[in-house]
Amino acid sequence: MAIKIFDTTLRDGEQSPGVSLSVKEKLEIAKQLAKLEVDVIEAGFPIASEGDFKGVQKIAQEVKGPVIAGLARATKQDIDRAGEALKDAERPRIHTFIATSPVHMKYKLQKSSQEVLESAVEAVKYAKTYTDDVEFSAEDAFRSDKDFLCEVFEAVIAAGATTINIPDTVGYATPLEFGGLIKYIKDNVPNINQAVISVHCHNDLGLAVANSLAAIENGAEQIECAVNGIGERAGNTALEEIALALNTRYDYFDKQSNLNLKEIARTSRLVSHLTGMEIQPNKAIVGKNAFAHESGIHQDGVIKERTTYEIMDATTIGLEENKIVLGKHSGRHAFRQKLEELGYELGQEELNSAFKRFKDLADKKKEITGFDLEAIMEDEISQV
Ligand code: KIV
Ligand code: ZN
Repeated sequence: MAIKIFDTTLRDGEQSPGVSLSVKEKLEIAKQLAKLEVDVIEAGFPIASEGDFKGVQKIAQEVKGPVIAGLARATKQDIDRAGEALKDAERPRIHTFIATSPVHMKYKLQKSSQEVLESAVEAVKYAKTYTDDVEFSAEDAFRSDKDFLCEVFEAVIAAGATTINIPDTVGYATPLEFGGLIKYIKDNVPNINQAVISVHCHNDLGLAVANSLAAIENGAEQIECAVNGIGERAGNTALEEIALALNTRYDYFDKQSNLNLKEIARTSRLVSHLTGMEIQPNKAIVGKNAFAHESGIHQDGVIKERTTYEIMDATTIGLEENKIVLGKHSGRHAFRQKLEELGYELGQEELNSAFKRFKDLADKKKEITGFDLEAIMEDEISQV
């Protein structure tokens, strides 16, 4: 079985400070995530706001292929809202959560562990009245008592949870410890084989990807992650880093994701553009320097044999395939065709407006590349 990629760019990613996406922008990202062939799109947190509800609803209606998930706390109101937003999805998932760590239970929830256990079970049972596909997360799992965690997971699986998620909510774990926790859960939850084991790591110490990989080595089957690693505080596990670690080190990991890796570069640019979160130049995989060689020695080595200094080929993630090209003499038909090849379907009005932008740009620039066309389209989307 492949490692499932659960993308939370539109939920945890959108919780990045300063990021707020319109429904149209969310839909555009979700369509691109479907092209990337992620297994699950967490489209939002429907009770959080009207915009979030509408975003999840629209994605549920229009995006086919991946499972579409909506987040809900372990309450009936949250679950009702998620169930309602997801009602038209081809493959809906309700993702319900409650915190299990002593500090969260005492100060945030003001609930005893017994009450938390009961709320978790009730939430899963209630979510099952909307869909068979129910994911349960034990928020702040890493700082929870291990045996209590196992007790909660056993109970929610018995109640019908089909995925159990183990978050390192505050990014506190180190790889050895986190891998150990996954193994402990696997060994101590008797009905664990009835659910998919998922992990959700935050990057406060820069260890989210390493912790997720350690989890895979110890039996995790689903990785929750976000494009460009965006998310609360220092962000979430970066989707592109997990995907390329599995792909590049196929000699080490016995499992791969189902992602269409060629769509990674494009997805990364789209998310960066629409969220306004720039990618640092030295960011692994998708930073602009990730495949650049500055020193003469390196350049010389790469010219003689690419693998002297490159462990990955840029074309794997869809770079350098974007060299198409249109110029100022290109007509509307060629323009539309190129956009369609890039996956944009335009109505007449959108086509007219985008074509005008293209002509303006073509007057200033000799060759219009795929990147330019994407930039034009992203501007169009954010203007609506
Ligand atoms: O970080 C976290 O614990 C979460 C949960 C809601 C899964 O985002
Ligand atoms: Zn999170």
